[in-house]
Amino acid sequence: MPHAGICAHTLHVYPDLERLSEAAAERWIALSQEAFARHGAFHVALAGGSTPKRLYQLLAHAEYRKRIDWTRVQFYFGDERAVPPTHADSNFRMAQEALLAHLDIPVDNIHRMAATPEHIEQDAADYAALLRAHLPCDTAGTPVFDLMLLGMGADGHTCSLFPGSPILHERVRSVGTVYVERLQSWRLSLTYPVLDAARHVLFLVAGPDKAAMLRQICHPDTSAPVVPVQGLRPRGQLEWYLDAPAAAELNP
Ligand code: 6PG
Repeated sequence: MPHAGICAHTLHVYPDLERLSEAAAERWIALSQEAFARHGAFHVALAGGSTPKRLYQLLAHAEYRKRIDWTRVQFYFGDERAVPPTHADSNFRMAQEALLAHLDIPVDNIHRMAATPEHIEQDAADYAALLRAHLPCDTAGTPVFDLMLLGMGADGHTCSLFPGSPILHERVRSVGTVYVERLQSWRLSLTYPVLDAARHVLFLVAGPDKAAMLRQICHPDTSAPVVPVQGLRPRGQLEWYLDAPAAAELNP
């Protein structure tokens, strides 16, 4: 019986994506202050997709922007599609347009996950080396993020840890390659060891199309397949930020 462990963590439910994003922005600010006090920096892995875009836009807005010492924030990516950084599918482009371009920070604070189909394996190795060079590591040598932002697909994937993909079995490398058949595209993704090692994981999940999967993972039955999100074993704090439509099928 798959356990509902991943849902045993804190669930915050908000009326809509706007309020979810406002609450997540406040959490970002609080976590950044904790990280600054702890080691003088805030190492954040940004999520891709569409859900986090509003959070990024809010953080770029003056009333939030002025509350964070951005020069001490180091930006990384949880996953990236093997497309140019100007491509419409690029997670970097989404974050750049919503947040990064609006911050007065050194370009060296932004660590793009460069991914090209021609040398995707080398790209994975290069980004893993970058993480080891910039982030504190645990005793196993796994980079430890202060904050890991994650989304969840309707199929239960997170980052580019898609159901059935070999990267789900990667327990050594910090960054792996994924070929997504249905999307006919290559991706890079952080692996479970890095997700598990993060001090804080915030899942941002919104929209009615996520309700069935949230019910499946929070109220699992024996017929339900285990999905990638359920493979997380966070050693830090994990919180779910949900909007009401996504949480609609959860037991109160
Ligand atoms: C990506 C993300 C992916 C995303 C989910 C949810 O590169 O697409 O890493 O894991 O978080 O697919 O996407 P939405 O927020 O668009 O629903």
